[in-house]
Amino acid sequence: VFPDHLFVLEFRDQSEYDKRLKAVEYDGNIRHAYAHYEKNRDSLLSAFDNNITTLIGAELSQQEMVRIIRDRLIGKPREDTKFVMPLKIIIMGPPAGGKGTASEVIKEKYGVVHLSTGDILRAEIRNKTELGLTAQSYMDKGDLVPDDLIINMISRRLKEQDCVQQGWLLDGFPRTASQAQYMQKAGIYADAVVLLECPNETVIERISGRRSDPVTGTVYHIKYNPPPTDEIANRLVQRSDDTEEKLMIRLNNYYAQVNSMLQYFPDIVHRVDAAVPMSQVASSVLTALDLVRNPLKII
Ligand code: AP5
Repeated sequence: VFPDHLFVLEFRDQSEYDKRLKAVEYDGNIRHAYAHYEKNRDSLLSAFDNNITTLIGAELSQQEMVRIIRDRLIGKPREDTKFVMPLKIIIMGPPAGGKGTASEVIKEKYGVVHLSTGDILRAEIRNKTELGLTAQSYMDKGDLVPDDLIINMISRRLKEQDCVQQGWLLDGFPRTASQAQYMQKAGIYADAVVLLECPNETVIERISGRRSDPVTGTVYHIKYNPPPTDEIANRLVQRSDDTEEKLMIRLNNYYAQVNSMLQYFPDIVHRVDAAVPMSQVASSVLTALDLVRNPLKII
């Protein structure tokens, strides 16, 4: 009898295993059973073709394990490190922490659909829709738009074909514990949360120099990422909520919510130092996501 797949769950680090044993009230028999497993492991594995064997880190989250196993079961060749299941990512961070900037890099590498709630709302405002008119009264003050409006907007968008097929990158959602709770209740699971960490003095400097191009939508910074031509420089505009006064309201909103939001995503949060040059932020973010995308590498 030959199996098609052999999945082996092992701890990379013995101390992780010891912790797990303590948590289940370790008894001597388990240790004995483990010694037996260790002794026989190599000869046991050698009885099976390497091509059917997948080693999985036993300390990975349940979600990550399920994803690896599902990927193998649907026949993705082992040597191909791309997952069939598209990536689903959330990016969080303080206002002007660099979410939009890092999102461009993530989108380019993984082909996910970038959903920036701020950009979607600004487009609604430009198009003078009912949602836009309501949202504007909150955004102009630096306040959060009511949860129900945002949740409706995002839940509809996530069901669209491009998000289902390519995966998604949520930038600006969830932004409150209620929005995170909604995701959990609705069964909308992310593979990773990238949390950009950036001190207030840095975001103040970034916000004061941020300018966007109304023609292409590209975001620049007058010092750190200046526009390439005078023609573009002359048409750049500043966002109406990019004043120091409104930034303080936005920062307070962010820090009032972030910890309670993170509780909804145990095990999948990747903290990234975002107070460094853009290229370094990009490389830390991609390194973190590569591990998510190919968990086999970390075994
Ligand atoms: P939103 O547009 O999402 O604003 P935000 O969260 O405040 O974030 P920003 O867009 O200001 O900044 P960012 O982190 O993307 O930084 P960026 O990459 O541009 O939301 C706006 C409003 O919409 C909210 O206030 C709220 O009213 C409403 N809203 C949205 N979502 C909502 C929700 N879910 N619920 C309720 N209300 C919601 O970078 C900033 C600048 O710094 C740029 O100039 C950039 O070039 C530069 N920069 C970036 N990285 C670096 C770096 N590493 N070094 C130097 N410069 C850098």
